[in-house]
Amino acid sequence: MQEVLPEGAVIRKLWIGEAAKYRDHVLRLDRDGRRNRFGGEVSDEFVGSYVDLSSSLDAVVHGFFVDGVLRGAAELRPLGLRFPRQAEAAISVEKPWQSHGVGSALLRRTLLAARNRGFRLLHMACLAENRRMQQLARKFDAELSFDFGNVIGEVESSRPTPLSLMREFMADGHGFATAMLDLQSRILRA
Ligand SMILES: CC(C)(COP(=O)(O)OP(=O)(O)OC[C@H]1O[C@@H](n2cnc3c(N)ncnc32)[C@H](O)[C@@H]1OP(=O)(O)O)[C@@H](O)C(=O)NCCC(=O)NCCS
Repeated sequence: MQEVLPEGAVIRKLWIGEAAKYRDHVLRLDRDGRRNRFGGEVSDEFVGSYVDLSSSLDAVVHGFFVDGVLRGAAELRPLGLRFPRQAEAAISVEKPWQSHGVGSALLRRTLLAARNRGFRLLHMACLAENRRMQQLARKFDAELSFDFGNVIGEVESSRPTPLSLMREFMADGHGFATAMLDLQSRILRA
């Protein structure tokens, strides 16, 4: 999984207690970004409640951090006991960091996490006019099928294998080590 990220950047899973970072990132999206992220206009209060719910559910959120600040996120949220093999996926990247491959890297991690948790179907609320997200999803044509005629896209994910589990495990190990180095260098700078 070779990814070229901007200097000082890392992608890793969010830890317990990082909900405020996630909320602040979503609140920093511009109006179009927020609308595209949620499939419609939503208030600041809605964003707050949405993030609180993500923390209380079994959601997996991958974050794109630049110098310790969360600038992009991809969420994998199970739909619950009534739909045990289905989840919702959503991605957001703040404008200055778009078009640098961050969305692709986040979607790749999310698909791997979905596969390793046995989710067979992912739902993505994508507005029909959201060309960027459609372009992004097309890059993963081999792994997913999308119907952009509708607001909801459905993604079929492959079955987990020992290799796919190992890939996620290794990515987590790398993310943790980089976060520790980042923290250490910021403590030394202070
Ligand atoms: C959709 C979004 C996540 C894409 O993130 P990103 O970091 O820009 O994505 P990438 O840089 O990996 O680009 C993915 C693909 O989009 C396309 N793309 C990139 N920049 C583009 C642009 N300016 N115009 C049109 N297409 C573009 C390219 O095909 C690109 O693939 P390539 O670089 O291999 O050619 C980001 O635009 C975003 O956060 N939008 C607001 C929220 C949203 O729409 N979320 C999706 C709903 S779930």
